[in-house]
Amino acid sequence: MPLLIQCWSDDRSRKREFQVEDTLLDSKMSLMSLIQKLGMPVGSSCGGESQCGWCRVRVLKGAEVLNAPTELERAYYARQTGGENEELVQGFRLSCQAYIQKESFEQEGAELWVSTTYW
Ligand code: FES
Repeated sequence: MPLLIQCWSDDRSRKREFQVEDTLLDSKMSLMSLIQKLGMPVGSSCGGESQCGWCRVRVLKGAEVLNAPTELERAYYARQTGGENEELVQGFRLSCQAYIQKESFEQEGAELWVSTTYW
């Protein structure tokens, strides 16, 4: 089944929409890599090591198709907020640490909506 991905600007004034066939997805492909493959820019200065936070996106819909936050991701947010993971609660993810779980969108109509400040 294809997965519909919508990439929104932070103010929700612009979006780009992509149909992603599951054959394109690789279990080792991060959301950051997938978004880049779709032609959308994603910031990064650490190369996906969970250090810079530039790849941060907010998941607006479809969080269930992603893995749970990794230990590296939790550690990043703990460093940023002094121990609280408030941003994780609000749906923010480091796209370099988020992976699409292919088995989670086998039903038709699965969607993942994300936004970031620079789209
Ligand atoms: S690329 Fe640096 S934290 Fe994700």
